Amino acid sequence: MWVHLADVRLVVLWIHLVGAVVWIGGLAYQTHVLLPGARRGDPRPFADAARRARPVTWTAVALVVLSGFYNVTQLGPLERVLQSGAGLMLAAKFTLVIVAVALAAQRDFAQLPILDAAIRGGGDATRALTAVGRLDRVVLLLAVVVIYLGLAVSRA
Ligand code: HEM
Repeated sequence: MWVHLADVRLVVLWIHLVGAVVWIGGLAYQTHVLLPGARRGDPRPFADAARRARPVTWTAVALVVLSGFYNVTQLGPLERVLQSGAGLMLAAKFTLVIVAVALAAQRDFAQLPILDAAIRGGGDATRALTAVGRLDRVVLLLAVVVIYLGLAVSRA
């Protein structure tokens, strides 16, 4: 039992899932709980929270991706992976993850600085908030599909 509990594969899978929960959970909270308030009134609390969330988010993204690559190495014989359909689902998952990461980067490193500049300069924050909201919805949508594909790959 102890050998199983300390299994590297299990620990890495745990990192994979905790990383996904932190990334996607944090995003859902920001966009569904904090963002509506920013759009109705003062955008500053949201901008502060989004900036503070960035190191947590990107640490989680790095852990999810690195542990994901390790998971791939543990799937077993290539022939079986291809035959079971896991290979195809993994390719689809990987593609969606790349798109999601690119959109998340656009949000965090392009739109958030634009939002900050608008707030500091006393300008209109609405456009940046709208852009962040759109990007977040797409990333969340991709994430729910990615989670399904992850579950399907591990059970194929
Ligand atoms: C480059 C990125 C990624 C790669 C290469 C990858 C790879 C994998 C692999 C190979 C598995 C199967 C593990 C096993 O059966 O032992 C897996 C499981 C899983 N992944 Fe990923 N993944 C990546 C990103 C993500 C992301 C971004 C999420 C969520 C947002 C995610 C969620 C899951 C889930 C929920 C499982 C199912 C775990 C289980 O049922 O045991 N993965 N991943």
